Amino acid sequence: MTAKRIVVAGGAGYIGSHVCVELLQAGRKALVIDNFANSSPVALDRVREIAGGNVELLRADLADPADAERIVSAVTAFRPDGAIHLAGLKAVGESVAEPVRYYAVNLPATFTLIRALEAAGARLLVFSSSATVYGDLNKSPVDETGALGPTNPYGRTKLFIEEMLRDLARADKRWKICNLRYFNPVGAHASGKIGEDPNGLPNNLFPFIAQVAVGRLPKLKVFGADYPTRDGSGVRDYIHVVDLAAGHVAAIDYLAKEASPGAVEFNLGTGRGVSVFEAIAAFKRASNRDIPFEVTARRDGDIAEIYARPDKAEKLLGWRATRTIENMCADHWRWQSANPNGYRDE
Ligand code: UD1
Repeated sequence: MTAKRIVVAGGAGYIGSHVCVELLQAGRKALVIDNFANSSPVALDRVREIAGGNVELLRADLADPADAERIVSAVTAFRPDGAIHLAGLKAVGESVAEPVRYYAVNLPATFTLIRALEAAGARLLVFSSSATVYGDLNKSPVDETGALGPTNPYGRTKLFIEEMLRDLARADKRWKICNLRYFNPVGAHASGKIGEDPNGLPNNLFPFIAQVAVGRLPKLKVFGADYPTRDGSGVRDYIHVVDLAAGHVAAIDYLAKEASPGAVEFNLGTGRGVSVFEAIAAFKRASNRDIPFEVTARRDGDIAEIYARPDKAEKLLGWRATRTIENMCADHWRWQSANPNGYRDE
């Protein structure tokens, strides 16, 4: 059995739009639910340009009780086989400043999606979790049995939802669930039509570097060069967003074919650590632009090094990341240089 009709909650966002492209190109049909809180309808127009029109949109807020009935009806009418859930707030700093908002959005959005899937009789769910659930407790490479201890409210919403989904799968064997623990998604679709478009000043390294390269920001700050890593800067497992998106199709297919997988966790990473200085150098080569930077103090809450052991996904999903840091930089740059102001140019 294949899952053909997929609800994509948060499908207009950075990762969601790439997931939609991979689904459509694999011959599936998508119903996107998005409130465009941190995304643009233009992203879905671009998805259609790349991969055709098999995507419907329901503009609604999964976390707003006033929208719940409309969502349940639309999901039921769509007759889905399952869902990919990427709807939620995701800025670490903001979650520290406004923790209650993070819990009040990320958890209820998940409750409503589960309710809609129950109503539709489609108990197959792929959840967008994060490597942030591991916190700073493990030596890298970290596998899925690693200790869990997120260090901020955003990360705790991911962990709480994972735990709830494990409880759900234990209580009702009809549910099949994957918790996908993303490492650091970067890059963009090779067409240059969709990519990351952060609101305001970027928090994350790659969008920041890209905006410096394109001349929108003057200078990058390297948050600490005194970590116990090979060059003193932080080491992360950057993964090309198209590889990551393909991992969602593999996860949906795995759930559809397994009789009773329960809830299963997967790391989606490359298994390779890249330092901040290495990322700057790679982006410089790909863009042929200067990337001025200065080393500053460490950022609060940052860890020295984390990268994945991705073997479980390779073994059970038949998926592995194939794109290199050079591909990530080249594709990120193509998107950024063609769309210097993201989707706002349209
Ligand atoms: C962060 C979040 C993580 C979230 C992920 C989403 C924290 C502690 N973690 O991961 O929960 O899932 O984003 O992609 O915020 N860096 C700089 N200068 C910058 C920005 C970053 O030097 O302007 C460095 C950081 O210190 C780090 C590396 O670049 O070593 C990557 O940072 P970032 O892209 O923000 O990702 P994470 O912190 O790994």
